[in-house]
Amino acid sequence: MPKTKNNLKSLKVKAEKELLRAQDPKDLDIVFKKYLGKKGELTRILRSLKNLPKAKRVKVGKEANKLKNFLSIRFSEAISVLKEKAQKEGKVNEWLDITAPGKKAVLGHLHPLTLVRRKAEEIFGNMGFTVVEGPEMETEWYNFDALNIPKDHPARDLWDTFYLKNGLLLRTHTSPVQIRYMEKNQPPLRIIVPGRVFRHEATDSSHEVNFYQIEGLMIDKEISVANFKAIIQEFFQRFFSKGVEIRLRPSYFPFVEPGFEIDIKMDKGWMEMAGAGMVHPNVLKNAGLNPKEWQGFAFGMGLDRLAMMKYKIDDIRLFYSGDLRFLNQF
Ligand code: DAH
Repeated sequence: MPKTKNNLKSLKVKAEKELLRAQDPKDLDIVFKKYLGKKGELTRILRSLKNLPKAKRVKVGKEANKLKNFLSIRFSEAISVLKEKAQKEGKVNEWLDITAPGKKAVLGHLHPLTLVRRKAEEIFGNMGFTVVEGPEMETEWYNFDALNIPKDHPARDLWDTFYLKNGLLLRTHTSPVQIRYMEKNQPPLRIIVPGRVFRHEATDSSHEVNFYQIEGLMIDKEISVANFKAIIQEFFQRFFSKGVEIRLRPSYFPFVEPGFEIDIKMDKGWMEMAGAGMVHPNVLKNAGLNPKEWQGFAFGMGLDRLAMMKYKIDDIRLFYSGDLRFLNQF
């Protein structure tokens, strides 16, 4: 036993010396093999442990393993030092290990709301609707008055509004684009307006201060609720890629008459998906159209709500969290 112990000691001294003497990785490799390789000196000692009586085996084994760890660490340190040195001196020939597995390029991908918006645009596009956009900063006229929501009318409270110092406001819905478009374009017309809207509200799992809507508008000579129902039913069917049952529930929005809410039947029961109605004559007038000549329907639905239903997401705030654990799932 004392012999082996001494052996270990001198082995350590010897190995360290040789380690320091090594000038390049090749030298180091030779030293490494000499001590820690398959037939290395230390490896041999470790192997022969089993022949020692138990008490000795435990003691020497401990020492030998300690030395093994020590040397391993010294070796990797020495390798990095040499590598760094070689690099500094420009001695490293660049070489390619063509057998190494390739690095996978990380591809970016679209946000779930973008996916849903594009899908909706595609479906409505195939039904003859043009995609139109409008400003996020709006005037009171377009956001409210022109939509038949007079100044002191309590209906205005339906929309909690961010008013800006410059006299404008952040649009509370995409409906103002109806007016903007009708002012500049003669019917017959079919548009959808995807866009960001803002509400001065407390946030929770189904409310955000900014979110997305899709507005729809179709104006022609003989348009009825039946046309609307057919189109919206077709939309949901294509969007969810399956048969869906919808119902129209009477509701109030100042810019339509009659107005209704559209529910669709899901596993958990009826879900409110959109507001809609036949465009109010005052709205047509405000946009410069003759209500005796033209009529049509309009609707507005939450893009976030659509995405939540499609992907079974239960918190709207996730869309705006920037949380990659969430976003990477799409
Ligand atoms: N602008 C409404 C809102 O944000 C939604 C809406 C309801 C839009 C009925 C419409 C409509 O075009 O006809 O709550």
